[in-house]
Amino acid sequence: MSGAVKIAFGPLSAPKGNALVVFVGADMKPAPAVTAEFGDLEPLIRAAAKASHFSGARGAALDILAPAGLDASRLLVVGVAPGKDSAPLDFVTLGGFTFGKVTGAKRAEVAFEAPSGMWDGPAAADFALGLRLRGYRFDKYKTRKKDSEDDTSEAPHFVIGSSHGAAARSAAQDRFAVAEGVELARNLVNEPPNVLFPAEFADRAKPLEKLGVEVKTLDEKAMGKLSMNALLGVGRGSARESRLVAMRWNGARSKRTKPIAVVGKGVCFDSGGISIKPSAGMEDMKGDMGGAACVVGLMHALASRKAKVNVVGIVGLVENMPDGDALRPGDIIASMSGQTIEIVNTDAEGRLVLADALWYAQETYSPRAIIDLATLTGAILVALGHEAAGLFSNNDELAQRLVSAGEATGEKVWRMPLGPAYDKLIDSKFADMKNTGGRHGGSITAAQFLQRFVKETPWAHLDIAGTAMGSPSSDINPSWGSGWGVRLLDRLMADSYED
Ligand code: BES
Ligand code: MN
Ligand code: ZN
Repeated sequence: MSGAVKIAFGPLSAPKGNALVVFVGADMKPAPAVTAEFGDLEPLIRAAAKASHFSGARGAALDILAPAGLDASRLLVVGVAPGKDSAPLDFVTLGGFTFGKVTGAKRAEVAFEAPSGMWDGPAAADFALGLRLRGYRFDKYKTRKKDSEDDTSEAPHFVIGSSHGAAARSAAQDRFAVAEGVELARNLVNEPPNVLFPAEFADRAKPLEKLGVEVKTLDEKAMGKLSMNALLGVGRGSARESRLVAMRWNGARSKRTKPIAVVGKGVCFDSGGISIKPSAGMEDMKGDMGGAACVVGLMHALASRKAKVNVVGIVGLVENMPDGDALRPGDIIASMSGQTIEIVNTDAEGRLVLADALWYAQETYSPRAIIDLATLTGAILVALGHEAAGLFSNNDELAQRLVSAGEATGEKVWRMPLGPAYDKLIDSKFADMKNTGGRHGGSITAAQFLQRFVKETPWAHLDIAGTAMGSPSSDINPSWGSGWGVRLLDRLMADSYED
């Protein structure tokens, strides 16, 4: 991770030999303020546009090298004309897109003015967030930085010039708090499993204390006292000890308001255990803690922007390995809730971890709502691909709030069904339930399993196996570990739960 992208705000100013970024629509005319500052660029843009079939449409850019009459090394013209869907302009995406186009420049002066209409301070702050999300890199294990082709020296220093500089600067503070949370989550997912085992993951949550988050860690002994045999059962085959971390941010005006609980699956490596996975692609199972990473990133975001909400983040941290002492198919264990579980497949381990983490969350904090995130099933990839996370909920209002936050942030969720017919599929001959429901509807039966550990509380489960890692790169995410969910839940808190 080379440090964050450098971003400053100010008035429009001369590029002084560096790159200049301007925005145009279909008429190729930059904003009047841009013309006032840099002269009439339209003829230059028109001539270059003609030669390269640039229409000013969103998602297209025109790179004019050594532009005549301008003291700039490059003039980057970014299209913002609406497409057929006439969707509103997404400034976060625009920032990420722009970042992708100016790589190579040392410094870029962005003339952040709408060709027509109004771009305000918050729009500039969103643009800056996009620059930052796109500028993320994870290269701490590369000793020969210059060798890899995507690694072109330093990221450019961006100066965002607008007539709303002060408003942009202040709006950007909250955006950057969220960006830091996303970066933290991405880092955790990208770390290799020999480095990021459960105890190390717990240590990475500790620095949240500096932001005012109360961080409590339970080791195996403490979890044993609470009879968390489902979570501990998963960790039994590993040489690494399991952990549970509870992080509490009490930012609401009333400190006694019941918290929202956010619970994350933190399987630091999932080999499958005795029901071992095929070796092809198994390295990806270092990312099976994407839910837990999101929870830590979210707590960072909320605390560093001092969100007026009470939230408790809980992560169950284990490693799922085969061993002489590992769980076997056929074993029956008693969860913290007292309900017994017949293990039929040791690779269905995430739900075991969450069973105890969810129960612990309810017993300890009586939350007003619970949201869990888990890279729970390969089946959700079959259903939804990388486009959306699966949403399962016992509460229509909570579900709708998540759908709306998903639309607002682009971290989309798609609601999936729950019901008694699915629930029946996990009944066991020998115990209260079994830990898999067969091949069909695998994401749903996994969610039904979790629901057996939720009491009356409004609850939503997000199956993020398709979105937490391995998605194709996008304008705002170049990273394998995406940090998915931090922006979604930050938005949910801001829109629905903050004072
Ligand atoms: N961690 C996996 C799910 C997963 C698959 C996450 C692909 C990310 C990408 C989970 O623990 C698992 O192994 N699930 C099994 C459940 C089955 C044994 C019922 C699965 O999806 O095959
Ligand atoms: Mn598994
Ligand atoms: Zn897993």
